[in-house]
Amino acid sequence: MQILILGALVGLVRLAQAQVGGYGQCGGNGYSGSTSCTAGYVCASQNACTTSSSTTTAAAVTTTSTTKAITTTLITTTKTTAQTATATASSSGAATCTGAFSSISASNFISSLHPGWNLGNTLDAVPDEGSWNNAAVVASTFDTVKTAGFRSVRIPVTWAYHFTGSSPDWTVDPTWLQRVSDVVDMVVSRGLYAIVNVHHDSWIWADVTQSGANLTMIEEKFYRLWYQIGTKLACKSSLVAFEPINEPPCNTATDGAEINKLNKIFLQAINDAGGFNSQRVVTLNGGGQDSVKTSQWFVAPTGFSNPYAIQFHYYSPYDFIFSAWGKTIWGSDSDKATVQTDFQLLRNNFTNVPILLGEYDASPTNTEPAARWKYVDFLIKTALKLDISCVLWDNGLDHLDRTASTWRDTNSISMITKSTASTANSLPDSTEDSSATTQSSSAYIFHQYGTAVAAYTLPFIFNGNTLSSISDSAGSTLVSGTDYSVSGANIVFTASYLSKHLSATTAPGLIATLTLKFSGGASSPVVKIVQWKTPTLSSTSAVASSVSGSDLSIPITWGGLPTIAAVKALTKSGTYLVDDWTVYLGPIQQARTTYSGQYNWDSSNVILTSSVISSVISAGQSTVFTFEFFPRDNGVVNAVNFTLTV
Ligand SMILES: *[C@@H]1O[C@H](CO)[C@@H](O)[C@H](O)[C@H]1NC(C)=O
Ligand SMILES: *[C@@H]1O[C@H](CO)[C@@H](O)[C@H](O)[C@H]1NC(C)=O
Ligand SMILES: *[C@@H]1O[C@H](CO)[C@@H](O)[C@H](O)[C@H]1NC(C)=O
Repeated sequence: MQILILGALVGLVRLAQAQVGGYGQCGGNGYSGSTSCTAGYVCASQNACTTSSSTTTAAAVTTTSTTKAITTTLITTTKTTAQTATATASSSGAATCTGAFSSISASNFISSLHPGWNLGNTLDAVPDEGSWNNAAVVASTFDTVKTAGFRSVRIPVTWAYHFTGSSPDWTVDPTWLQRVSDVVDMVVSRGLYAIVNVHHDSWIWADVTQSGANLTMIEEKFYRLWYQIGTKLACKSSLVAFEPINEPPCNTATDGAEINKLNKIFLQAINDAGGFNSQRVVTLNGGGQDSVKTSQWFVAPTGFSNPYAIQFHYYSPYDFIFSAWGKTIWGSDSDKATVQTDFQLLRNNFTNVPILLGEYDASPTNTEPAARWKYVDFLIKTALKLDISCVLWDNGLDHLDRTASTWRDTNSISMITKSTASTANSLPDSTEDSSATTQSSSAYIFHQYGTAVAAYTLPFIFNGNTLSSISDSAGSTLVSGTDYSVSGANIVFTASYLSKHLSATTAPGLIATLTLKFSGGASSPVVKIVQWKTPTLSSTSAVASSVSGSDLSIPITWGGLPTIAAVKALTKSGTYLVDDWTVYLGPIQQARTTYSGQYNWDSSNVILTSSVISSVISAGQSTVFTFEFFPRDNGVVNAVNFTLTV
């Protein structure tokens, strides 16, 4: 057996594998369970995995404060600092703008920016642009984004490692300010709206929930940071909005009040910086930028003239979005009701405020396509019905391949960019019922190796449209009646057509891709023809103690789609190795583990993480891991077992 030690390199492997890996988000708004990242990464906050070394640096920055000094004289303190700062600004002249500012209301700004796209893991990378999985920004990326139909770009920026001075001035490196300004210009020169923020600073130095956090320092630094950003970007056009801070950690009403205070400090700073900032649109936020805490504790600041919207983020349900506990299906009435309720919570609490969903993402790299398309379709339309605009998260591994300038899942992008609140999209049907023991998906024609080729039926949700055409990867159009027919809500492919691609002995793998077009709606799903047989592992067991301390890579011969659907972990005595509460979930979720935290894969291996190996050792029980693949049949045929013995 080949054993590889995977550390930070996992991130690089992920680039090839197009999965989220260490760069993924390890929590998710509203999620309060345990969090974990790929080996070599740590979960630094609710939504960020970072390398251990960066976190060490981050900790060093924040450990300088020891007491939690809650000041009641914020605005006085801030104004004093502001006066000093204004002098600096005046001498640099940055805050005097030439030309006019074309005022825009917050509601006009927010409705015009839909749909938006996030320049994720880029200027927000820690410590610097280029430190994570994306190369430096190039302007042509925004051409691709605009051509796809996006109308705005949210530009997350982490400032933490770009300070060149300390208290009380907190000077930011002018080169970095210039870089951010240049990227803003790349976006707005194309007529796209832009939102600039303060991003991972939220947990690196501005975490108000840390015991011993020096709130005086956080407030002072936050003011000075926004004063400098506000000065640098003071004369940008009304296409540019500011967002105070990304997903600020927040546990209590007191934290919520402190975040309200940060919103005020932010407004004070940009207004003090001058230029057009007093008219500029801002998107304010509540704790964690989640709908629950925002609805509970957000209080709009008074005394400022800026048009404002509320921004929140949504990555729910956590298990579906982050491949946890075998949740590879989505779309039941209860799944839909949850999204509806979560969005309404915010809308009903802030009936007159424009609302922006600034991050959401069902990534093509770790969600099943038919389930994903149902989710995207429902999420976008639910948001639009509630007058909520949406900005897609894209960490560079999710949606846009920035090197090739191609979208990894054109159907999601099409639904996001073209759907209105009432668009009727045609979608492949798939299993929704959580009591199911197998999973069907009409995003695939799965043919099992060794069996005769027969006609194949794909149930579809037509949504009032008719099927216009089906074309294959070579660009030929299939002949209706000969190659396929539509019968009720089913598209039936004939055995003679499928036999052009497949036989009982065709080598397993992706055989062909079909694109379906419908008479209406924004959806053009692709259906993949896949030949499959059960994969094989190069070995079926290992002694836990002899492989502990690092991730265990087990070479695999894939038998169809080269991905893992889920991994079950049962001890020899029949108990669940981890998360025994999953007994309350459906059959295809029980005893299942979590992608990245407990299992992983690359192009030629399945991987058990060092963390799950430790769980086996501490349980003191030999454990059978069942790796399941698509199509999922609950571990019966399309699955392999690997045992870690103690
Ligand atoms: C907290 O921060 C303020 C402002 O930077 C500083 O003056 C003060 O000494 C800090 N308090 C502690 C206990 O470090
Ligand atoms: C407003 O938010 C609170 C706190 O989350 C919630 O209890 C309440 O039901 C919401 N109000 C409405 C009208 O949705
Ligand atoms: C895996 O092992 C379990 C018992 O530990 C067994 O019930 C199951 O059938 C096995 N699955 C496969 C695919 O071999």
